[in-house]
Amino acid sequence: MATSTNFALETLCIHGGQHADPNSGAVMEPIVLSTTFVQDGPGNHKGWDYGRAGNPTRDTLERCIASLEGGTHGIAFSSGCGATTSILLLLKAGDHVIVGDDVYGGTFRIFDKVLKQFGLEATFLDLSDTAKVEAAIRPNTKMLWLETPSNPTLKIFDIAAMATLGKKANLTVVVDNTFATPMLQQPLALGADIVVHSATKYLNGHSDVVLGVAVTSDDALAERLHFVQKAAGATPSPFDSYLVLRGLKTLAVRVDRCVASATKIASWLEAHDQVAKVLYPGLASHPDHALAQRQMKGAGGMISFELRGGFPAVDAFLRATQLFVCAESLGGVESLAEHPASMTHASIPAEARTALGISDGLIRLSVGIEHEKDLLADLERGFAAAKAYR
Ligand SMILES: Cc1ncc(COP(=O)(O)O)c(C=O)c1O
Repeated sequence: MATSTNFALETLCIHGGQHADPNSGAVMEPIVLSTTFVQDGPGNHKGWDYGRAGNPTRDTLERCIASLEGGTHGIAFSSGCGATTSILLLLKAGDHVIVGDDVYGGTFRIFDKVLKQFGLEATFLDLSDTAKVEAAIRPNTKMLWLETPSNPTLKIFDIAAMATLGKKANLTVVVDNTFATPMLQQPLALGADIVVHSATKYLNGHSDVVLGVAVTSDDALAERLHFVQKAAGATPSPFDSYLVLRGLKTLAVRVDRCVASATKIASWLEAHDQVAKVLYPGLASHPDHALAQRQMKGAGGMISFELRGGFPAVDAFLRATQLFVCAESLGGVESLAEHPASMTHASIPAEARTALGISDGLIRLSVGIEHEKDLLADLERGFAAAKAYR
């Protein structure tokens, strides 16, 4: 099995946690669909007894992602939100969580509309001010939750600083690494306790699976997460687990290409007269550029920008582009464009959106792996359609 700590991430994408099937010699992971596994006698089995508790295909995916994040345990879930909820089920009524104020809208919704009614308290904060975060810690604070780069304003938070704070106050520090992927940023190495992913995005990379994963190197946390996985049951199917394993094989090359194209597109957008502002951590104009350079190996494939002309301009732009398809989600081989205020972040109250900088003119791009010249021409199509509204 490819578990050597000496392998580069590019190699672990293809071989991490994997070996040829001992029964058939199959080089690619078999999809084991059986929900139940034979037992020689009660409790005497080959490591699997029931599909919700464990599955060979899922186990391989969990090992592969754990190896990429530099962790020892991977725990897969039926979606990124399923992973988030399952991690929060480690807490109890009366516990308090500090959460970045710019997290994915669905993550905000889990706190605000699902777990609040079970007595979980949450404070949403701009995590760039460490003193403010420290002041928000209460005796019942148990967890610190951050997403970096954040969504959709692409703020960068200091994982090492948050991890140091978390250790001092005995908090479990969770980092949503969906946007960066382990290719660009490894939160466990920076001191985080748990990394969470919507594997629906870059890890799978082909926009055909919804799946989530958590990774940790803490044995006790892993045992509790495996228990929640089995007991609460938000588990992925063997087929979806296989598809993500397959997607992971090209993660390194996909991310390289996305970052290279996004870097060029961001600079091009910054020079465009219909653009009021570009948010991309790779640009020197980004407020967290220095931190991004320190913390990440590349600024990622996501760009947000403010189009002059507000919603009418955005509407015309998103109807005109052909390659940048107007759709939610991100991290696939195909480029996508969306309007956070009315799409991904509609569940955040309008006032809070405005405070976060999610204006009606903001467009979020997920840069895919098409040729960059075609992508630039496509964006120009959008600008031409929006010109009348600026
Ligand atoms: C950063 C981030 N975390 C979590 C999620 C939730 O993942 P899923 O859609 O797989 O449930 C998303 C989905 O867009 C996301 O962008």
